[in-house]
Amino acid sequence: MKNILITGGAGFIGSHVVRRFVQNYPNYHIYNLDALTYAGNLENIKDIENESNYTFVKGDIVDESFINELFAKYNFEGVLHLAAESHVDRSIEDPLSFVKTNVIGTMNLLNAARKLWKDNMEGKRFYHISTDEVYGSLGAEGLFTETTSYDPNSPYSASKASSDHFVRAYGETYGLPYVLTNCSNNYGPFHFPEKLIPLFINNIINNKPLPVYGDGNYTRDWLFVKDHAIAIDLVFHEGKNHETYNIGGFNEWKNIDLVKLLCKVMDEKLGRSEGESSKLITYVKDRPGHDLRYAIDASKINTELGWKPTVTFEEGLEQTIDWYLSNTDWLNNVTSGEYANYYKKQYN
Ligand SMILES: NC(=O)c1ccc[n+]([C@@H]2O[C@H](COP(=O)([O-])OP(=O)(O)OC[C@H]3O[C@@H](n4cnc5c(N)ncnc54)[C@H](O)[C@@H]3O)[C@@H](O)[C@H]2O)c1
Repeated sequence: MKNILITGGAGFIGSHVVRRFVQNYPNYHIYNLDALTYAGNLENIKDIENESNYTFVKGDIVDESFINELFAKYNFEGVLHLAAESHVDRSIEDPLSFVKTNVIGTMNLLNAARKLWKDNMEGKRFYHISTDEVYGSLGAEGLFTETTSYDPNSPYSASKASSDHFVRAYGETYGLPYVLTNCSNNYGPFHFPEKLIPLFINNIINNKPLPVYGDGNYTRDWLFVKDHAIAIDLVFHEGKNHETYNIGGFNEWKNIDLVKLLCKVMDEKLGRSEGESSKLITYVKDRPGHDLRYAIDASKINTELGWKPTVTFEEGLEQTIDWYLSNTDWLNNVTSGEYANYYKKQYN
């Protein structure tokens, strides 16, 4: 039995990765380390909490001695690092908390892995999960490749870029066996409703305004979260050491077009007349440092590892909407309390 550490497994993407690893790899014992911040929710992984190859550990990756003790106790052979502060708007309000978790937290994990594995790196793997936002913004043309220069514009992307650099430096300097992926925007079940798709699904259900930044022409590439989890599984097992892979959905949407599609599907699902939900669209003041366009060239992971998305955007979006409509308790739970204060501050 190999002990594998997954950080951030109570969050959106992490919960899908933890579920996949617990269910598909009975020869692994999965330790899910999560601080349970506002974004972490044990309900996201309730279905697997009693599996014999799964243990939840509540803790903060910023706490160096706790991390060192954890590595010494469980002798991890692999690490999949997803824990992060992940919301750009919050990073504009409180950049330092992003430096603490995303940079210092990653450093603590890197140092602990380096110490534990220093005499034998064979079969060990440190997998750092990152974002396409580190590359900055594209104009109307072009795609981010693995060799695109880093050019982060928000405190969030700067903190992720910094952690990516440290991971690569630990590979070069100490020979740490790492893999790194930079992925585009994810969507799907268990997504916290501060991010565009679940926020707008929730607002449409509740007949609340749909706040679209600027002129709505910001363009993002969208990937269904379960396809990201499949890619992560593949890279963890078959990716080459010291390599970066870009992961994307081959699926670019202008925000405003995406919102209109979402409104149309929601009208059908809720039995509303066509065009009703789109009346909720409200343009709001742009956020500073807003990147115009992200687009990923995912051909390396496709040709080298054979990965491509398994669902179309229309299928993934429908599955997502259906999930939110049949999990209103989950939605109501995460949107009570602190969320209301955050929402008021951000959009009112
Ligand atoms: N969501 C996306 O579209 C996207 C795209 C590309 C990459 N990523 C990256 O994937 C990872 C996961 O993203 P997500 O959307 O699931 O994020 P999320 O915000 O939903 O989840 C983050 C998790 O990390 C935990 N966490 C935060 N600070 C912690 C700390 N100090 N110690 C321990 N746990 C802590 C939270 O409790 C939460 O469970 C992040 O590293 C993010 O940068 C996300």
